[in-house]
Amino acid sequence: MKKFLLIVGIVLGVAALGVAGFVGFQVMKFNSSVAKVYKVAIPKVTLSKDPAVLERGKHLVLSLGACASSDCHGGNLAGGNVLQMGPVATVIGSNITPAGVLKDYSDGELVRLLRHGIKKNGQTVLMMPIEDFNWLPKSDIVAMVSYLRTVKPVKKKMGTTRIGILGKVLDRLDQFPFDQARRIEHDKLPSAPKPSVTVAYGSFVATSCRGCHGKTMSGGKLPGAPSNLPIPTNLTPHESGLKKWTYQNFRKMIATGILPNGKKVKPFMPLNMLKNMNLTERKALWLYLKSLPPKPFGNR
Ligand code: HEC
Repeated sequence: MKKFLLIVGIVLGVAALGVAGFVGFQVMKFNSSVAKVYKVAIPKVTLSKDPAVLERGKHLVLSLGACASSDCHGGNLAGGNVLQMGPVATVIGSNITPAGVLKDYSDGELVRLLRHGIKKNGQTVLMMPIEDFNWLPKSDIVAMVSYLRTVKPVKKKMGTTRIGILGKVLDRLDQFPFDQARRIEHDKLPSAPKPSVTVAYGSFVATSCRGCHGKTMSGGKLPGAPSNLPIPTNLTPHESGLKKWTYQNFRKMIATGILPNGKKVKPFMPLNMLKNMNLTERKALWLYLKSLPPKPFGNR
């Protein structure tokens, strides 16, 4: 019996060492990747004061750019909100008004940040979903920066973002993207077709949905998410998804948060950005969702 217990003990010990080794290795890889200094040139840009360009910039900041999401930079863009993800991470959106971090950035550095996920110091930005909008043409990104330079400065005390061990491991296993710059092909940024009500354009508009609803859009629990985070639903035209939804249902949900069953969608769903989509973006998005192969819920 003693010998048996000894063997069990040794096996468990070796397994524990294996797990610890694996975790330690992933943490080390994460730490060295986020310390990497990228050699991506700072683009030459000229900001615009043209009201039409500023309006386009504002539209993108409030819609496809999702900058103003409550879990990110917030309605007044001053950030500071704490997204508590338990052992995964504690993430705090930066203050992106002219009183916040932006004042330290040149215009070119800001455009580089928004397209490549590279901070002023050449290292990756954490968590900020660059790929959700870096398919926009450079002129659109310049419009966003032009607009951001004009918003009301807000001073605010900020905490610091902390990625936990579990968050680092999830990032390395490609279950959760904290380390943005390593995921981007810096010499081959995606480029979308011109805005139009087409499935092809809708597929780009839907980029930001995939972060939560999954690559296949069929929903399911976010990997590593604490149990208090709402579970993204199935957006494919399956029984467990949007099969019975009409465009009117979709429009109402976007405008008011009210679902066809009369319930209100939970605030984790970034309604304030969906609400600001223009007609072309919304219709293209709907066309795209309808074109998806139906998948049962939970196949992310
Ligand atoms: C931050 C994560 C997140 C993002 C990004 C996101 N969603 Fe959601 N979405 C959710 C969650 C969570 C729910 C379920 C909310 C609930 O249970 O009330 C949801 C619910 C929905 C629903 C209701 C579906 C139903 O059957 O009740 C629709 C429609 C929807 N999302 C569309 C979208 C679209 C379109 C996008 C992209 C433009 C998007 N979502 C982006 C998290 C997200």
